[in-house]
Amino acid sequence: MPVPLRLDPVRETLLLTLSARALDSRAPAPILGDAGAAAVADRIAEDTGYDFRKLKLKPSLVTSTALRARKLDDVVRRFAAAHPGAVVVDLGCGLDTRWARCRPPTGVDWYDVDFPDVIELRRRYLPDRTHLVAADVTEPGWLQVLPEDRPAVLVADGLLPFLPGDSFRTTVRRLTERLPSGELALNGYTRFAAWAMKYHPSVKALGIAAAQGFDDPREPEHWDAGLTLAEEQLLTRAPEVAAFPQPLRALTRLVALSTGLSRQGARILRYRF
Ligand SMILES: C[S@@+](CC[C@H](N)C(=O)[O-])C[C@H]1O[C@@H](n2cnc3c(N)ncnc32)[C@H](O)[C@@H]1O
Repeated sequence: MPVPLRLDPVRETLLLTLSARALDSRAPAPILGDAGAAAVADRIAEDTGYDFRKLKLKPSLVTSTALRARKLDDVVRRFAAAHPGAVVVDLGCGLDTRWARCRPPTGVDWYDVDFPDVIELRRRYLPDRTHLVAADVTEPGWLQVLPEDRPAVLVADGLLPFLPGDSFRTTVRRLTERLPSGELALNGYTRFAAWAMKYHPSVKALGIAAAQGFDDPREPEHWDAGLTLAEEQLLTRAPEVAAFPQPLRALTRLVALSTGLSRQGARILRYRF
């Protein structure tokens, strides 16, 4: 007998991204090819009766979620290869299988952080070799678990829009105060993209009302967090767009002609600290 999942709408967004990566893995030309995501989504559907179809995932959300995961994985892999003994912190990890995709070298310690009920789900569905941190990322206490003397790469995939007010900035400031050096990588949302997100059919289906973003990729340099912009990747211009299904590919190529419009879509921002 299936036991229904009880998650509030912000937590439930983890099923959107999981489902997007699962659908990508089943596409004729996958962008991320994460079969592990499909296996977890199938098990959840079976155990809980969760109807992923209610999320109304469109091809654009599937491809952009898979592509941003791929780009963020690249950041983590490069950092872990260049810094033996590094620390990886996945902020708002949801049920992402990033550790299994990246398989960091031994000596790298990986911390997956999300709300306690989400971490419970991780224990059940993803017995990876990571440190599970059951906490609200915006609270200061959990940072004590992070080693203070090792370079760190911080990833925030799909987290920024759901943190209220300036809590993302405060959280990043606390992290960069604690950690000696490293990188922060996230998928950025402009203010407009964050505002428009609540009208997206999949987000609307979950009843999310407000979201956060920032326009200028250099804005975080003024957060007193010691961040310096290292890279802004506009994903409309990524080579992987060649694998997008039509007519999405043609539309994406058109949007790619404009930097302003491309910024409203998926972009990866990477900072050093
Ligand atoms: C869109 S999902 C993305 C999940 C995951 N990064 C992925 O790509 O599948 C947003 C995640 O952020 C988590 N989250 C939102 N606010 C949080 C907070 N204050 N503390 C911890 N996790 C949070 C949610 O529980 C959810 O797992």
